[in-house]
Amino acid sequence: MRRNPVLLVDDDEALRETLGEALEALPIDITLADSGTAALELLAEREFAVIVTDLVMKDKDGFAVLKDAKERYPACRVLMLTGHGGRDIAVRAMEDGASYYIEKPIDLAELRTKVQKCLDEYQRSVEFDDLRHQVERQYGFSGIVGQDPKMLRMLDVVRQIAPTHASVLIRGESGTGKELVARAIHNSSPRRGKPFVAINCGGMSEGTIESELFGHVKGSFTGAISDHQGKFEYADGGTILLDEVGEMPIGTQIKFLRVLEEREVARIGSNKTNPVDVRVLAATNADLEAKIESGEFREDLYFRLKVVTIEMPPLRERPGDIKLLVEHFIQQFSDAHGKDVEAIDRDALVALVGYEWRGNVRELRNSVESMVVRARGNILTINDLPPEVGAPMPNDRDPWHWLAGKTAEEVERNHIRVTLELSGGNRVKAAKQMGISERTLYRRIRDYGL
Ligand SMILES: Nc1ncnc2c1ncn2[C@@H]1O[C@H](COP(=O)(O)OP(=O)(O)OP(=O)(O)O)[C@@H](O)[C@H]1O
Ligand SMILES: [Mg+2]
Repeated sequence: MRRNPVLLVDDDEALRETLGEALEALPIDITLADSGTAALELLAEREFAVIVTDLVMKDKDGFAVLKDAKERYPACRVLMLTGHGGRDIAVRAMEDGASYYIEKPIDLAELRTKVQKCLDEYQRSVEFDDLRHQVERQYGFSGIVGQDPKMLRMLDVVRQIAPTHASVLIRGESGTGKELVARAIHNSSPRRGKPFVAINCGGMSEGTIESELFGHVKGSFTGAISDHQGKFEYADGGTILLDEVGEMPIGTQIKFLRVLEEREVARIGSNKTNPVDVRVLAATNADLEAKIESGEFREDLYFRLKVVTIEMPPLRERPGDIKLLVEHFIQQFSDAHGKDVEAIDRDALVALVGYEWRGNVRELRNSVESMVVRARGNILTINDLPPEVGAPMPNDRDPWHWLAGKTAEEVERNHIRVTLELSGGNRVKAAKQMGISERTLYRRIRDYGL
């Protein structure tokens, strides 16, 4: 087993030797320093798991050692030795990050116990740190994969606003991860132990959505055969996500706004109100401003919802993230479907990066899942690509579509090349097919180096 490095700092030689000997029983590698300055020099060179330091020393004292050690190695544990009656000063040391203190005269058994505690704590915090880093590297923040600056900026905002109560409007194209971000906000807020409820406002009548949101009492309308708790009451203390908020019927919008302002909700058919404490997140891929213009969306609700706005960048604006996402989904679906697909080769990845992904991450995720499920080997290749990605005209059925974005020269060169190939190299036949003279064809062949 590796022995943990421990640094013992004391300018009193006799005491230093005694303490050093007392610690020899522990599974540690001990280094002695005879002054604060010597300790700082050692700390500049390497990390120690535990530092036992005298407080009062000439030049650099125990506080200087503590400060330097914690700055360089946040995980390290510091144990302070203080003079008799040095309680006040010990409290200050604890505030500065020391883990324990021992008053002189020093009880050697106590010293050993406390150093052992420090070692255990250090070990745990290092292991925890490793685990956390591993998890973050693999899954990103709350399972959100992405390294593009646009994504990192977006995640910074998420981290900043998550712990607050602010309403957040999450905007972005379909499949960009709006719901995922909403969950991340909830999960990194103090509300994480309470429910997260998502409700889709699209395609629901006013009556249905209101009874979903606010609940109803028995007999309040035909079919209301029993009391029903609404999502708002259910989410008390937690977070509600109004998905496709732009689709909320206008009549519901005003009632909803009232609930937000008054922080209480009444079930339909009842006058009794219940206080609710719910954080509201909303997601949309619609042009809310246009809906306000046309009178389909209330401006007051709009302002109430967009205290903070988060824009989800479409996948085509962050092609660098495609590789990370593909690797993430390969791992995920390989495990889920009991396959042993491990990676994707370069050509297949290039094809995925070049595709347009109008359905954004959701579409990419589905494509990778179907590739993994059908894969024969453990490396995905271009043969595994779904047809829409592998085909030369991914987004349109019109065969001429692939010409867009090519130069006239490129088009002509390939036109001649393919026609010659198909005519078996017969130039007379090829010229006739293309409707150009043989002379022109010869010139082109020479110019294009065919
Ligand atoms: N950055 C990401 N990292 C990992 N998975 C992601 C990421 N973005 C989206 N996904 C996954 O893609 C799928 C679609 O995401 P989500 O449902 O959050 O999108 P959305 O914006 O709400 O879409 P819609 O507008 O269609 O409702 C989900 O399975 C989600 O887990
Ligand atoms: Mg969604």
